[in-house]
Amino acid sequence: MNIKRKWNNALNVLYVKQELKLFLGRGKIDSILYIVGEAPGRDEDIQGEPFVGRSGKLLTKMLEAIAIDRKEIFITNIVKCRPPENRDPQLEEIQACSPHLTWQINFGKPKYILTLGRFSTGYFLDDFKSSLKSLRIGTPKSPLYPHITVLPTYHPAAVLRSPERWKPLVWEDLKKLSYLLLQENFYNDEQKAQLKKNKVIE
Ligand code: URA
Repeated sequence: MNIKRKWNNALNVLYVKQELKLFLGRGKIDSILYIVGEAPGRDEDIQGEPFVGRSGKLLTKMLEAIAIDRKEIFITNIVKCRPPENRDPQLEEIQACSPHLTWQINFGKPKYILTLGRFSTGYFLDDFKSSLKSLRIGTPKSPLYPHITVLPTYHPAAVLRSPERWKPLVWEDLKKLSYLLLQENFYNDEQKAQLKKNKVIE
């Protein structure tokens, strides 16, 4: 499938033209856990890797808090190219990139997806109307990928903007993810010791 052509078509629909770089993801594609953000930003455009700017550094710390090294999971975005001027991704762009995301999911077969922010959550839960606050309750399955449990949380960029507001909620979501991964025997003894140290488990 030629995702670049699809993307170009989507952008042409939006009357925007730019040189496009594709960012397909980083990490272990056959991991049980995928983390899916929104779209690459300026730093990602320069470095050619998802989540390497300020949001990415915070994401690395969030994962370390639940004893996960970002290299052992797969990190990607719903939109695979940087939207012009860092604007929000548009539905056409999400749709243009979704075949590639579907290909990645069918290939890697993750069981859990941590969705960062309303666009990724909206896509996986097929609901762009409800608030993230309501969507993050429980452990919903994705209507698009029924074998996948979706764990919606706030985007690290939102946490950077208002840490006192979003950090406690993100910590709840991360702990929920960590408990699920414990049940899956994802962690080795060293990682479990780290979870104890970080007070995720007793
Ligand atoms: N924000 C995202 O959603 N994805 C990235 O890759 C970088 C910042």
